[in-house]
Amino acid sequence: MTQTVKIFDTTLRDGEQAPGFSMTEAGKLKMAHALAALKVDVIEAGFAAASPGDSQAIYRIASEVEGPTICSLARAAKGDIEASAKALKPAKNRRIHVFLGTSPLHREHKLNMTPAEILERIGSMVAYAREFADDVEFSAEDAIRTEPGFLIETLSTAAQAGATTLNVPDTVGYATPDEIYQLFRQLSQKVSRPAGVIFSAHCHDDLGMAVANSLAAVRGGARQIECAVNGIGERAGNCALEDAVMALRTRRDAFGIATGIDTTKIMAASRTLSQVTNTHTPRNKAIVGANAFAHESGIHQHGVLRNRETYEIMRPEDVGLASNQIVLGKHSGKHALKARAAELGYTLDGPALEAAFVRFKAIADEVGLVDSARLTALLSEEAPGTHDP
Ligand code: KIV
Ligand code: ZN
Repeated sequence: MTQTVKIFDTTLRDGEQAPGFSMTEAGKLKMAHALAALKVDVIEAGFAAASPGDSQAIYRIASEVEGPTICSLARAAKGDIEASAKALKPAKNRRIHVFLGTSPLHREHKLNMTPAEILERIGSMVAYAREFADDVEFSAEDAIRTEPGFLIETLSTAAQAGATTLNVPDTVGYATPDEIYQLFRQLSQKVSRPAGVIFSAHCHDDLGMAVANSLAAVRGGARQIECAVNGIGERAGNCALEDAVMALRTRRDAFGIATGIDTTKIMAASRTLSQVTNTHTPRNKAIVGANAFAHESGIHQHGVLRNRETYEIMRPEDVGLASNQIVLGKHSGKHALKARAAELGYTLDGPALEAAFVRFKAIADEVGLVDSARLTALLSEEAPGTHDP
């Protein structure tokens, strides 16, 4: 039987914490419905103790969104756990996500706590969260910069106190894929935990390695990865959901692990995010950028028009796009011009094609991309070919 990895989506929590990505309650609800359509396993809907607005948004999502488990983040403190429990009350399946910094930097400079105090706090607060929810996740914040021996102790303590998911955040995006792989292998062997407790990766993208690190964690034994649509999140962001999911799917030969994601809803989720945050997705963003399935250069266009696998490793339909795109610009060739002209009702061959091509290149040099309107104008004035609208 194929093994699976859970997709924990934190677009509405870590993602929303990033400057420029805050959402209204209505926006969060709309995005949560898009995430449910994607079939993510867990929606981290917010941080209930952060603000009354966030608590209210979690409550609405917990009341109205069906399918995924709904989760709220909480510091390892009674007030935060109670706020999360209250906001999650209407959810059919709820998770409280308790976190505490474990690295020397966090212990000494942020929390002013000794290792023994950290362990005591983790044990007592995870147990407290279990009084409100059967599903409790514990995150050792800044796990990657925590001494491995102490990290094993913190995660074992959380598991013994009732945590069902043990999250290992690379809070500052510092790790390399090799290190992450080795760490998860070590944790899988050394953390003492009841059967069924799983490890999770939460990777930030400060060095551009969040997706590679999350996939390395899966290879090392993680069975949950925390991601955000379009990779939004603190600073450079989190692991991009669409990248990790499509990598696991496209390279199932390399990973042998499936997700439960309906990938045909990826494009819709990405567009919903752009709409509710009023932001633009970069053209070259993997999977969801405007260029991800577009071809402008003549050599690529010629190949794709004959067999799209020459330059495409995924099918656009699999991520929710109707088709790939042949874009006409100064690098484009005659094959693409002829094909687009045919779509517009013009049959171009021989001298008509040659003449249109010369004129097309001149315009492309001037304007960059030649859209359908410009091409129609050019063909109407130039092409002595047959017009068959
Ligand atoms: O990056 C991080 O450490 C976090 C935790 C709260 C999970 O977002
Ligand atoms: Zn984070």
